[in-house]
Amino acid sequence: MCGIFAYTGEKDAGAILIDGLTSLEYRGYDSAGIYLPDSGCIKAAGPVSELRKKIPGGLKGHSGIAHLRWATHGEPTEENAHPHSGEAGEIWVVHNGIIENFKELKEKLQKAGHTFKSSTDTEVMPHLIEEHMKAEPDFEKATFKALNEIRGTYGMAIQYKNEPDKIIAARMGAPVVIGLGEGENFVASDASPILRHTRQVVYLHDGEVAVLTPTIHSIYTLDALKVERQAEEVDWSTEVAQKGGYEHFMLKEIMEGPEVVENTLRGRLIPEQGLARLGGLERVAGRLGEMERIIIVGCGTAYYAGLTGEYMLEEFSGLPVEVELGSEFRYRKPVLNNRTILLAISQSGETADTLEAIREGKRRGALTLGIVNTVGSTIARETDAGVYNHAGPEIGVASTKALVSQLTALALLTIFLGRQRTMAASEGSEIAAALLALPEKIRMILETREAIEAMAKKYAASRDFLYIGRKYNYSLAFEGALKLKEISYIHAEGCGAGEMKHGPLAMIDENFPTLAIAPQDSVYEKMLSNIQEIKARKGPVIALTTEGNTDIESLTSDILYVPKTIEMLQPILNVVPLQLFAYYFAKEKGLNVDRPRNLAKSVTVE
Ligand code: M6R
Repeated sequence: MCGIFAYTGEKDAGAILIDGLTSLEYRGYDSAGIYLPDSGCIKAAGPVSELRKKIPGGLKGHSGIAHLRWATHGEPTEENAHPHSGEAGEIWVVHNGIIENFKELKEKLQKAGHTFKSSTDTEVMPHLIEEHMKAEPDFEKATFKALNEIRGTYGMAIQYKNEPDKIIAARMGAPVVIGLGEGENFVASDASPILRHTRQVVYLHDGEVAVLTPTIHSIYTLDALKVERQAEEVDWSTEVAQKGGYEHFMLKEIMEGPEVVENTLRGRLIPEQGLARLGGLERVAGRLGEMERIIIVGCGTAYYAGLTGEYMLEEFSGLPVEVELGSEFRYRKPVLNNRTILLAISQSGETADTLEAIREGKRRGALTLGIVNTVGSTIARETDAGVYNHAGPEIGVASTKALVSQLTALALLTIFLGRQRTMAASEGSEIAAALLALPEKIRMILETREAIEAMAKKYAASRDFLYIGRKYNYSLAFEGALKLKEISYIHAEGCGAGEMKHGPLAMIDENFPTLAIAPQDSVYEKMLSNIQEIKARKGPVIALTTEGNTDIESLTSDILYVPKTIEMLQPILNVVPLQLFAYYFAKEKGLNVDRPRNLAKSVTVE
């Protein structure tokens, strides 16, 4: 998703901005650009390295704005790359989001004599400011007027050539973080490019505007009323956002699994009483006891976490649970009331579809909760209460450790809600003990990664893959397939194992491998029958099963062994080899594992 970064201070702004763009690269993008009042504007289609090539001797100036663009309106060309300027080349804008009324504004401006160079929605903004400055040449006032005219979503940074020290930033639906340094200030889409300069940050809220110079930061509402907001200290270290010696962020993040579970659980279990202590839910604990239904919303991997959560919560809390894609929920007329929990699951906390579902839920009176990884993100702030994952920043576009932490947090929530209802203390204690044993079991799986790598190499020439699972592992069939397709670009399908005979079985032949998630649990016998069906059609089968299960050998081509835990937690272990398998598969194909084509880490548009 687009990334914005801006700097005003005394240092070499060109170097700082290019460096900042590099740390935003993980968000996914297709072109880059930079503007410094002292050097002008430079843009390039493709990666930041293409932009660097265009400025071999660096740039002059102590302030500027920069952008990574993920195309929405208009092709990913140099022309459409940001920053965009008005007619006179004096007002420059970088923008993350969509200006929905850009067509009508553009027509109005064209009638007033403005010509446009790009096919982006963003370009109307500098022209609009310019138009207002014709009546009154005041950059700040004109910017406020323009911001009040545009509709849609934006995280924006704006600069005026004749006031080079000043940056104006604005937010409506797309994240903006202000970094406060000594004699320098920053604007960014997230904290990652700011952290190497300062840990003091201010998160803008929707409908807020920040006016920055090297020594001043003032925050206003869109009506130009002053807002007082304390700075916050970010405690993520910069090293955490580095690869820590691994070849890819994705592998590093899979390897962090044991610590991630420890961090998600830390201080939240009272095993002897079978209780979960979730500080983020305390202020709504009374209301939670009165709730009658849960709807979980999420997208992609977070949605699949929700599907597993559905089984956990229904079995142990007795509450009816439905799971919805954020991208569909908002277009229905969901039946919600003040006895409904709407639970959003999101790593980034910025996914537009999930966020809109939450807003819709609020409008309809639901109690909104979040399981969110990114502290201070929009979903974390807009939900009534929630549980932070504490998984640390996830950089690889493919979500791995976030899922492990989401499932762990869902298990905590299951204990929390279950114990308010029918769950016995002994049952809570059993789940708590099993949760605490997970990190060691994940370590054991990670130690087998060389064998998983060899298996991935063996299958890397396959053009198709089927994943099947049942009950708690039903969602993992979809997640395993998603992981493979998003980083390997091959056709992979997930299927509930019981659904095979209703269609997908027709695809199976000796060239169509299946990965069957078949731990020795309550549906193991059923899974064995499904594997038999595939074998009868000569389909190769990799089975993921419980350590020590040798019975399955005669039916399968290869086996991934996983330690046993209680049935509801088994997916937290099973997902790890699926992630490793996809990782090594894509690596073997020589693909860009961390930044797969066409995808963005944080999807802040519909
Ligand atoms: O940040 P979120 O958890 O809300 O993101 C949701 C999806 O965009 C995300 O899980 C996506 O499907 C991943 N690329 C999957 O690996």
